[in-house]
Formats: sequence, C-alpha cells, structure tokens
Amino acid sequence: MNVMKKYRVCIVGLTGIGSGRPLVNGEAGYGSVVPHSHAAAYSTLPETEVVGVCDLLQDRLDQFKEAWSAALPALKYYTDYQQMITELKPDILSVVTSDNRHADIVVFAANSEVRGIFCEKPIATTLADADRMIEAVEQNSVAMTINHSRRWRPIFRPVMSELKRGSIGELRRIVCSFGGPRAMLFRNGTHMVDTMCMFADSEPQWVFAELEEGYEDYWPYQGDGGRTPELEPAVSGYIHFKNGVRAFYNNAKRMFGRRDWELFGTTGCITVSDQHASIETENGERKMDCLHNTCVDSPAVIRELIGVMENGGETCSPPRQGRRVLEVLLGFMASQKKGNVRIDFPLNENAV
Ligand SMILES: NC(=O)c1ccc[n+]([C@@H]2O[C@H](COP(=O)([O-])OP(=O)(O)OC[C@H]3O[C@@H](n4cnc5c(N)ncnc54)[C@H](O)[C@@H]3O)[C@@H](O)[C@H]2O)c1
Repeated sequence: MNVMKKYRVCIVGLTGIGSGRPLVNGEAGYGSVVPHSHAAAYSTLPETEVVGVCDLLQDRLDQFKEAWSAALPALKYYTDYQQMITELKPDILSVVTSDNRHADIVVFAANSEVRGIFCEKPIATTLADADRMIEAVEQNSVAMTINHSRRWRPIFRPVMSELKRGSIGELRRIVCSFGGPRAMLFRNGTHMVDTMCMFADSEPQWVFAELEEGYEDYWPYQGDGGRTPELEPAVSGYIHFKNGVRAFYNNAKRMFGRRDWELFGTTGCITVSDQHASIETENGERKMDCLHNTCVDSPAVIRELIGVMENGGETCSPPRQGRRVLEVLLGFMASQKKGNVRIDFPLNENAV
C-alpha cells in the first residue's frame, strides 16, 4: 500500500495572513473558498500537517489556539522560532513576519535542515538581507518561494497565455495603476512591480522615479514592516526591461483607488485587474474568463513548493525574482535621492 508522506510544517508570524480561518461563505478575508492564509491553506492539503506555530506575542498564540486547536490538537506553541525549528525539525516553514523581519528566520531555517520555505513578500527591505537569504537557501539546496500571489491568481493565467500566444502581438508597454491609502512602495507595491516583471518576462535594467509628495528625502527604508502606510511613500516610477519593454508605475495614496495593469502590444491591448481581464484588438473587445475567480490560491503555492522540494528546479516566484523586485523598489528611492536620475542595475545600495 502506498502511504502518503506527511510534510511537517511550522509557521512564524500569526496575524491574519498567517493564521486566518477559512470562511464558509464569501470571498473576503483571509480564507475564502480557496484559502488565503497560510494556516488555512495547509489545512486543505492532506499531505501537510502544521506541527508548530510561533509569535513573539502571547496574544497571537492564544488567538491561534482558539481558532485552530480543535483541528490541530497536537500543535506546539512557541515565542522563539529557533527553539521551535530545533525541537520540531519541520520540513516546511512559513515565514509570515513583518516585511523587514524575514531574513534572520529564513537564514536560520535554511541552515537547520528545513527543506522548503514559503516566505511572505517582499523578500526583504534591503538587498543585503535578500542576499544573505539567497546565499543560505542556495548553499543548503532549500526550495523557497515568495508569496507574490498574483503569480498563482487564477485571472492572471489566461492573460499570460494570451501574451505567450501573441494575441496582442509583441508586448511593448505596461501601465500599472495603484491608488488609495494602501498604495505603499514596499508592502503592496511589491505585488504590482512583481506582476509587471511577470508580464514583461524580462529583467529590469534601469529605472527612474519621483516619490510621493512629502517623501523627497526618503532613504533608506523607514517603514515598520508594512503596518503603517505613512511610513512608506508611493511612487511615480519607470522601469526599462532588458527586452525593451517599458513600464510606467502610476502609484499614489491620494488618488482614486483603481488597481490594474494595461498591457500594450503591437496589435492589441489587455487590461487586467484582480477580478477581470479583457482583450482589445482590431477584431473588437472580449472579456477573459477563468474557472475559479478567487482572490488567491495559497494551496497552489504550497503544492508547487513541495514539487520543487521533491524534484528540484524552482517555483514561479523564486527568491532571486523577489530580489529583482526589491532592487526596483530601492532603485526608485535611489533615483529620488540622487535628483530623479536614471539608476542602472545592479544597484549598489551602500553607495546611494
Ligand atoms: N500575500 C498576502 O496577501 C499578504 C497579506 C498581508 C500581509 N502579507 C505579508 O505577511 C507578512 C506579515 O504581515 P502583517 O501585516 O501580519 O505584519 P505585522 O508586522 O502586523 O505582524 C507580524 C507578526 O509577526 C510576529 N513576529 C515578528 N517578528 C517575529 C519573530 N522574530 N518571531 C516570531 N514572531 C514574529 C509579530 O509579533 C506579528 O504578530 C508581511 O511580510 C506582509 O507583507 C501578505
């Protein structure tokens, strides 16, 4: 008889995105029909079992216990992630701590025989942190994926297929708009920039930018890991990709809260938001559909990670791609700092 392997999982960081219960009805929140939170996603996968959770705050551990102890009676609770990893020896670790607190945890896990790491976005808030994370996972052959979730979001799949099929000819320009109070450079902007990279299918080569009004002297990162919008600027940014695609990032907090991408090719245009996509060519305009138009597909992220742990290769959101996105975010800030000039990559963050 074939016995299914159970992957032992630990989670560090227990706010809603780490711990939210799946909702029975509705699409909102941290667990809809297709669960969004890390705990909810693992709970749908019979090949995984959450064995330990960790947060610095006892309140968060208590809340997790209240929500999950019936489903996970043997679960162990920790305030020290090193102790948890050392004692429980998980196969997979979810890193769901604040944006600027991923690095130490990933490095420790990679050096402690954890085989797969599901890390929240952005990868980090400095290139130095991203580099030590990448070095640790590569040296230890650890599979790692960054939760730039639109890479798995169902509505983006048909868009990628149309692009690859050449339905709008050759992709030339991208306009990405993101307005509203959460239009923060790192916390949410990381998703928008990563998605532009996914569409461009190329590496950013240089950027220039002007930061939001009031943030003219913003260098280095001064956020609190993503909690407080006022601690991160929005940006008007420009990205030149190696393959010639050009992208304009129209991002402001005091702006109408639209969030979408317009992809201009030589023979057509695709407009995509988180819920809808349509394509316009000389033959007219049509809507695109996908099977499950849910917000995020976190179980798919984990299934893919396990596939890489077992078979090698990399996920569709590997840490080196996460670093590229971070280089763009920091490149925008460096451009402002130097008088809104062109910043060529590789960026030396120590010489800005
Ligand atoms: N992919 C998504 O849809 C999505 C949605 C929300 C947040 N996020 C990401 O998830 C991460 C967490 O976001 P948040 O808003 O909950 O952050 P937060 O800063 O509000 O909370 C982080 C939690 O981690 C805990 N923590 C921090 N350092 C720790 C450590 N060393 N050991 C144990 N626990 C520690 C804190 O006590 C807190 O409970 C961020 O990287 C964020 O960008 C992703």
